[in-house]
Amino acid sequence: MFVSENLGTNELGHLTIGGADTITLAQEYSTPLYVMDENQIRKHCRSFKSSIDQFYGGNGLVCYASKAFSCKEMYRVVASEGLGVDVVSGGELYTAMAAGMDAKKICFHGNNKTPDELNMALDYGVGRIVVDNIYELHMLDALCAERGTEADILFRIKPGVDAHTHDFIRTGQIDSKFGFALETGEAFEAVRLALACEHLNFAGIHCHIGSQILDTQGFEAAAEVMMTFIKQIRDELGAEVRDLNLGGGFGIQYTQKDDPLPYERFMEVVSEVIHSFCAMHDMALPFILIEPGRSIAAPAGITLYTVGGKKVIPDIRTYVSVDGGMCDNPRYIMYQAEYDALIANKATAPKDTVVTIAGKCCESGDLIGENMPLQACEPGDILAVCATGAYNYSMSSNYNRIPKPAVVFVKDGKARLAVRRETLDDIIRNDI
Ligand code: LLP
Repeated sequence: MFVSENLGTNELGHLTIGGADTITLAQEYSTPLYVMDENQIRKHCRSFKSSIDQFYGGNGLVCYASKAFSCKEMYRVVASEGLGVDVVSGGELYTAMAAGMDAKKICFHGNNKTPDELNMALDYGVGRIVVDNIYELHMLDALCAERGTEADILFRIKPGVDAHTHDFIRTGQIDSKFGFALETGEAFEAVRLALACEHLNFAGIHCHIGSQILDTQGFEAAAEVMMTFIKQIRDELGAEVRDLNLGGGFGIQYTQKDDPLPYERFMEVVSEVIHSFCAMHDMALPFILIEPGRSIAAPAGITLYTVGGKKVIPDIRTYVSVDGGMCDNPRYIMYQAEYDALIANKATAPKDTVVTIAGKCCESGDLIGENMPLQACEPGDILAVCATGAYNYSMSSNYNRIPKPAVVFVKDGKARLAVRRETLDDIIRNDI
């Protein structure tokens, strides 16, 4: 009935998440409100972690891609599950460290890290810096030289595998702002240069083939391409590659149309590719890293809104407006992303209307979704949008000077505040 297994209904006909009544949450914390179910987050962390144990002898690390949803409490939860994290900016790095993450378990990404950000990573002793380009390679080497330290680096590689929702294409995907191309020899040349850098320890290679991927072929192809490159590095440069980081991208169910695989499946197929490649070429198995973001955070979260005005345009459509919108969920205006939604205080009633859910921003495209089946509703009802735990709060903005919603975590029916709601004073905090 629901897209996420942590959702249910209670005797009042209210939607529940992680055992907590969403209407009580809306009353207590107000709306719009992001709600994250801690047990679900933990469950997803464990699926990925145990898949490495089961299929790869535990010789790896799951780094939660914190761009999906980043706040101190989230880092605390994933760290307590033994995960590392992927960060992509000084802000994410700072938050992770403020939450007490082990710096050694951090992978620092980004196609244009600034000198300040790199210095910050060196100050903290970040475990892996994923170098994106030659400029960064030299800058990092020089920064390490200045302070007399060394850093472990990986290179971001464009594997030429472009994964879409239901298939993948093998392309000469040179046209990406991220990483080094294989087919031009650029990646190989970068490794050669890195091996000559006195202050850098070339530790491995990384790729990320896309997001919301619902099958395994792209991952198999990427693993094969990356292993072939590792072999080339061994054969032609005499260097062992310690780490293979295959990125994230594992898909989830947003609506009934999506049919995701069990998360364990990805490691199962990738492990098979790597094992047989290593056996065939007499190579040691690399340490493996994966970076799931959406798959850990999205299904664990919902957003609650209060329904406002309704606009019935005869023979055209009905707009139902809510007290948030593209400022807290820009995924419809950016990608026409589809979500499942329901009226949380009428959760057991049939969805017998079809509406367009509109946000409150001054922008016609500010919609949560179009043609959405929904229970008949009226002002004051609570709308729940499902599977919003990833790339909603993390991509939220203050457009129209709308304060960002609060985030609460629920666990076993109990809620606690994780991020305070912004106030109007927060909005003018930096104005002179
Ligand atoms: N690792 C790297 C290097 C990445 O670039 C990403 C996502 C991930 C891991 C995590 O991917 P995930 O497991 O979450 O699919 N804003 C978009 C998604 C952008 C993803 C960017 N990179 C959205 O809302 O769909």
